[in-house]
Amino acid sequence: MRHLIDITELTINELEKLMETAIDIDEHGEKYAHAMEGKILATLFFEPSTRTRLSFEAAFIKMGGNVIGFDNTISSSTAKGESLIDTIKTVSIYADIIAMRHFLEGAAFAAALNSSCPIINAGDGGHCHPTQTLADILTIKRETGRLDNLTIGVCGDLKYGRAVHSLINALSRYKNNKFILISPPELTLTDNYVKQVFDDNGICYERCNSIEEKVNSFDILYMTRIQRERFDDAAMYERLKNSFELNVDMIKNAKPTMRILHPLPRVTEINTNVDNGPHAAYFKQVKNGMLMRMALILDLLKQKDNYYENFNILDTEKKCQNNKCVVNSERNVNNYQKKIEGQNVCAYCEKEF
Ligand code: CP
Repeated sequence: MRHLIDITELTINELEKLMETAIDIDEHGEKYAHAMEGKILATLFFEPSTRTRLSFEAAFIKMGGNVIGFDNTISSSTAKGESLIDTIKTVSIYADIIAMRHFLEGAAFAAALNSSCPIINAGDGGHCHPTQTLADILTIKRETGRLDNLTIGVCGDLKYGRAVHSLINALSRYKNNKFILISPPELTLTDNYVKQVFDDNGICYERCNSIEEKVNSFDILYMTRIQRERFDDAAMYERLKNSFELNVDMIKNAKPTMRILHPLPRVTEINTNVDNGPHAAYFKQVKNGMLMRMALILDLLKQKDNYYENFNILDTEKKCQNNKCVVNSERNVNNYQKKIEGQNVCAYCEKEF
C-alpha cells in the first residue's frame, strides 16, 4: 500500500507519468469511466475546502466510483471527542482510499501510519499540499512547455502557505529553476525550510518586497492568499492581509508568456481585472487539479509498496516543540523522528527538535 503525504515521495519520473495519464484522461475520458466501479473514496475534511474536496469527489465519480465522507468536524464523531487515529482506523475499513484535510501539521502522516487503505494528504495545516502541486505542475507544463529553466516569483504568505511549500519542494528538483520570494518580512519562508530546500541543495533564490521590481523576469508568478486561519495574532493578520493586490497595471512589463497561478481561494490579492487577460492561468489549475487527482487515484490503487520502509522513521523520546503539530494535539500519536539533510526532525511536521 502506498500513500501520498508529501510531494517529494514522487520521483520526477512518477510526476511525468501522472501528467501523461492526466492528459490522456482529458483527451480520452471514456477510457477511464469505469476504472473505480465498486470502489469507495472517503473524503475526510476537518478544515474547509471547495476545490480540493469537490475535485476529489468529481474525479472519483467520473471514474464510476462512490464517495462517502464529511466536510467539517461538527457532523462527525470528532465532535464527540473521537481521536483522529480512531477515525482513520474506522473509515479505512469502509473505504478503498481516503483523501483527508486537517488543520494540524503532520496529521496525514499520522493517519497513514494507522490506515488500512491509502491516504492522500489534501492539506495538513501550514505544512504541505501535495495534490495542489500536482495541479500546479501540470498547469505550468501545459502553459510553458517545461518544468525547468523557469524563474518563478512566489508571492504572499510564504510562511503558512502549504501550497507554496509543496510547490517549491517539487520545482527545486528540476534543473535551473530560480525562485524570487516576495512576502512581508513576517510571512517569509522559515529559516529551517530555506536551509533544507534551497541552501543545502544549492538552489538559486532571492527575496524582494514588490512584484513590479521583478515582474519582467518571471516565467511564473505564483500568488497566494494571506492565510488568516493560521495566525495566532489577529491584529497581525489585519495589518498584513492587504499586503499585495495584483492588477493589470502591475504586469504591463511582464513577458507575454508569463503565467499567473494561484491555488485559490483568492481574497483580494488578485484583482478580477487580471482574470480575462492572457496571463491568468488560475482557473486552468482547477481543471488540471481534477485530472491529476484522477491520475493519482488510479496510480495509488494499483501500487504495492512498503511505505514505512520508504520513510525510515524511528521511535524517539524527544518531543516536538511545534504546537501546531499533530503529535501535540491528538491522542495515540507516537513520537517519531526522521532525518532530513542529516538533521533529526519530527517525522510529522518536519520541524527540528
Ligand atoms: N487550493 C485549495 O486547496 O482550495 P480549497 O481550499 O478550496 O480546497
